[in-house]
Amino acid sequence: MNVQENVLPIEGSSRVLARHDRRIGSILAEEGKLGGEDIERVMELQQTEGLRFGEAALRLGLITADDLRCAVAKQYDLPHLLPGNESISSELVVAYEPFHPRAEELRALRTQLLMRWSNTKVGHRVLAIVSPGSGEGRSYVAANLAVVFSQLGERTLLIDADLRTPRQHRIFNVPDRIGLSAVLSGRADRSAITQILEFGRLSLLPAGAPPPNPQELLSRPSLGVLLQEMWTEFDIILIDTPPAKLYADAQSVTFRAGSAMMLARKDHTRLADTASVIRELSDTGARIVGTVFNAF
Ligand SMILES: Nc1ncnc2c1ncn2[C@@H]1O[C@H](COP(=O)(O)OP(=O)(O)O)[C@@H](O)[C@H]1O
Ligand SMILES: [Mg+2]
Repeated sequence: MNVQENVLPIEGSSRVLARHDRRIGSILAEEGKLGGEDIERVMELQQTEGLRFGEAALRLGLITADDLRCAVAKQYDLPHLLPGNESISSELVVAYEPFHPRAEELRALRTQLLMRWSNTKVGHRVLAIVSPGSGEGRSYVAANLAVVFSQLGERTLLIDADLRTPRQHRIFNVPDRIGLSAVLSGRADRSAITQILEFGRLSLLPAGAPPPNPQELLSRPSLGVLLQEMWTEFDIILIDTPPAKLYADAQSVTFRAGSAMMLARKDHTRLADTASVIRELSDTGARIVGTVFNAF
C-alpha cells in the first residue's frame, strides 16, 4: 500500500478561529473582572493607542494574562485549564493552550476524522492509534485527540491498551491500579472506567496493573465484548497501543477496533516500517483511516 496516498492532511485551521460572536469586554464584565468605569478607561486607551480591547485592559493592569486567556477561550467556546493545574499533565496542549498551533492542528485532525466518519457512514467510531516504534507520539496524540473530541461535546472514551508502557493514567492523573488488564481477565467490570472531571464528557480506562501476558490478553474475545458494550455508551472510542513493530498487541487491538490511524514521526519513523505495519494491520481486515505525520 502506498502510504502517501493514505495521508490525513493536517491543515491549518484558521477556520476554527473565524467565529467571533462575543465581545471580550462583555465576557470580562460578566465574570466580574471589569466594572463599568474600567471598561470606559479601557476603551479610551484602545482608541488613543489603537489596541485591541484585551491588550488595553492588560496594559492598564485591570486583568491578568490568565483572565484574558480564559475570556478568549470562552469567546471561542474552548473549555480549557489554567497553567499550574497540578492534576493534569501539561502535555495536554489542547487543554492548556487552546490557541497554540499544535492545538489547532489537533482540532483540524479531529475535523478530518469526523469528515471521514460521516462520509463512510461507519456505525462505530472506534480508532486504534498505532505506530511502529516508541516515542512517536501515540499517547500524546491519543490523549489530546480525546480531549478535543470531548470539547466538541462527544462522549469520548480513551482506552490505554499499551499494557507494556502505559502512560494515559499519568497524563490524566488517575489511579492505575485497576484497568484494562483486569477487565480483560474478568477481574473487574466497567467501574474501572474513570470519568475525567475536568472534561465533562471524557472517560478513561487506564491500562491497570501490568500483566505477564499482554499479547494473549489483548487477543481474547473479551476485548471485542468490551468494545461492543462501550460503543452504545460513547460516541467516540480512541485506543492507545504499544509499538506495532515490536509487539503484535496493536494488531490484536486493531482487529477488534476495526479501524486504526497510523502515526509516523517526522525524521524518526522509517517509511518501510510504516508500510509494513499498515500491511499487517490491513491483513486483520481493519480500515486504516490515514497516516498522520507527527513533527516535533
Ligand atoms: N506533536 C507533539 N508535540 C510535542 N511533543 C510531542 C508530540 N508528540 C509527542 N510528543 C512528546 O514526545 C514524547 C513521546 O511521546 P509519546 O506519546 O509518549 O510516544 P509513544 O506513545 O508513541 O511512545 C512525549 O514526551 C510527548 O509529550
Ligand atoms: Mg505511548
